[in-house]
Amino acid sequence: NYYAIIMAGGIGSRFWPISRTSHPKQFIDILGTGKTLIQNTYERFLKVCPKENIYVVTNENYTKLVKQQLPDMEDQQILTEPVMRNTAPCVAYGCFKIESLNPDAAIVVAPSDQQILDEDAFVAAIEKSLQTAASNDYLITLGIKPSRPDTGYGYIQYTDNVINDEFHKVKTFTEKPTLEIAKTFIQSGDFLWNAGIFVWSAKTIVKAFNQYLPEMHEIFADAKPVYNSDKEKPHVHNVYQQCVNISIDYGIMEKADNVYVLPSDFGWSDLGTWASIYDLAEKDYVGNAVIPAEKVIMYDSSNCMVNVPGEKLVILQGLHDYIVVESNNSLLICPRDQEQNIKQVVADVKNKF
Ligand code: GDD
Ligand code: MG
Repeated sequence: NYYAIIMAGGIGSRFWPISRTSHPKQFIDILGTGKTLIQNTYERFLKVCPKENIYVVTNENYTKLVKQQLPDMEDQQILTEPVMRNTAPCVAYGCFKIESLNPDAAIVVAPSDQQILDEDAFVAAIEKSLQTAASNDYLITLGIKPSRPDTGYGYIQYTDNVINDEFHKVKTFTEKPTLEIAKTFIQSGDFLWNAGIFVWSAKTIVKAFNQYLPEMHEIFADAKPVYNSDKEKPHVHNVYQQCVNISIDYGIMEKADNVYVLPSDFGWSDLGTWASIYDLAEKDYVGNAVIPAEKVIMYDSSNCMVNVPGEKLVILQGLHDYIVVESNNSLLICPRDQEQNIKQVVADVKNKF
């Protein structure tokens, strides 16, 4: 009864210029492991559930990439969206479809762009969560001990009310707080980062949609008769336009009162931003991370993240705490602490070029 849904329809705009709308980061071997991020994600879930129970939800523009990179997946396991509407509709589509196939399903929903170093610990955490979710009306999320007041994450305040030894009842869930608020969360010590990995039974999440996003519930519940038939794709593509654009974090997790968190430690990194790559990268004694270290010369420069592949000679003079990245004929130079703005910049650029 265990299922997995991989969310793979984002464009990874904070990772510009390496991640592009036409080829987002989940389809790139960002870490140089020989496999793309979505391939690593898929292989992790093969350890948790049978391969026919793994689904990918993605934009129709990426169907070809998914098929190329995950050739073992059958067509009916690749759910496509005609437009980007963020993660709530993506979760609804996957979960309502699975619920129509197996009302007793327990489902893990995960991003396609994360790095997990300790796979055994990851598999153990997911199995425990699936087990707990199968027999309880809980929305479970995995929580990571935070290391900095990053404004790109959800923050989970947990209580000492513990179920099944390890699942803490969640008091508040705050998606992407301001820096000021993130700082107070970190100081208080009773917050975890939301890993973006959710576990629930099909019944529980359907109920949550009914309660918190009733219009979306109606759209995907109405589609029940066409799931797993030839009519599924045209119908879903037709109604997708009507979905509001909202993430599962804002749409459900912030509002629900049956959220539980499993504090987890499995070498998690969200490969969401350049800071996350900087954190993982090898650095010299003044904190410069240069990938690949070909033709970069630095004078009086520190804590910079430089990624300019190829033949170009790059010289940094007196630059501190900057990101310098070149890819796809585009060059980005940005202070490290302003990288959350890249999302907006890329949106503007797209309209101009
Ligand atoms: N199918 C589909 N459709 N997938 C999407 C869409 C969409 O419209 N939008 C995003 N995704 C996919 C992305 O490709 C990614 O794998 C995953 O959903 C999460 O989306 P992000 O856009 O990366 O979310 P985030 O990083 O801003 O925030 C989420 O993840 C953080 C941890 O990495 C939230 O859950 C935060 O609370 C969390 O801390
Ligand atoms: Mg992300």
